[in-house]
Amino acid sequence: MNTEMNIWNVKFEDIIYNSSGPECTTLAHLNALWASSSSAIMIKSCSPEPRDGNPTPRYVETDLGSINSMWLPNLWYKEYIGYIPKLKQDYKKPVVCSIVGFKPQDFYDLVTAFQQDSDVDMLEVNLSCPNVVGKPQIAYDFEASEEIIKNICAIPGDKPIGLKLPPYFDPIHVDAMANIILKYDIDFVTCINSVGNTLIIDPETEQPLIKPKGWLGWLGWDYIKPIALANVRWFYKRIWHKTKIIGCGGIKNGVDVFEHLLAWASIVQLGTILAKEGPGCFARISREFQEYMDKKWYTSLDEIIGNLKEL
Ligand code: DHB
Repeated sequence: MNTEMNIWNVKFEDIIYNSSGPECTTLAHLNALWASSSSAIMIKSCSPEPRDGNPTPRYVETDLGSINSMWLPNLWYKEYIGYIPKLKQDYKKPVVCSIVGFKPQDFYDLVTAFQQDSDVDMLEVNLSCPNVVGKPQIAYDFEASEEIIKNICAIPGDKPIGLKLPPYFDPIHVDAMANIILKYDIDFVTCINSVGNTLIIDPETEQPLIKPKGWLGWLGWDYIKPIALANVRWFYKRIWHKTKIIGCGGIKNGVDVFEHLLAWASIVQLGTILAKEGPGCFARISREFQEYMDKKWYTSLDEIIGNLKEL
């Protein structure tokens, strides 16, 4: 089955690539993604200054997924902008960059830099991370979100811009965010970011798994797949006519990809499985997806995307 996908003017050879999450921070990580079967190279959320992030242990895997409190370690946005031409030598696939700020002006400055002075193909603005201690993640503050979205959408440039959204747990909040998205030129949303402020306890050691932030961290993988699917579906109902949806959360095999597409994702991102298995996961999951589609006699993505059957 042909699995090429366009997100507006950006062409992906396949529907699976990495999320802004594990294994996309260092230049070695980015080279490994370049060499892998990932259909794009996503660069970890980058900030106006380089960041070391939190002390360790800050990322731990469990049987059901992962918990992290990294606090946005990254090399610095200018370092990534400088490296993108190298990633695009012998052009193989699109480069997408995630952007994060600590005040509204940061988002404006970084989007301007990437839109006007970089070879990046697409931008994902992270409104769903632990930006400022004592404040909610931005996407839970609808006024602050609208201000940022209005400003970044006014910046001239032809690179598609999307939002990485947090998990919403109530349809009213999805309505509030969808109404903002519909007012501006947001090209895609990525649903969902990891589920924050959670505690995992090891009963053997009687300790929490991670150290920072009062031991609270952000969950990925099996823990969050049903929440991710619900958010993809909720946003589909509200914004399908204007905005694409990228599915993220809980994908570890080809069947998980299929479920995200049925919910209405056009393309999907992998996080925890990349850390657990390494870059070979892209080829494996892509193959599994193809095999599952053959088994079900599907011949095109159009037959699948959004076609969750009524009950
Ligand atoms: C971090 C970043 C995220 O986007 C997120 O959802 C959770 C944690 C971080 O770097 O700490």
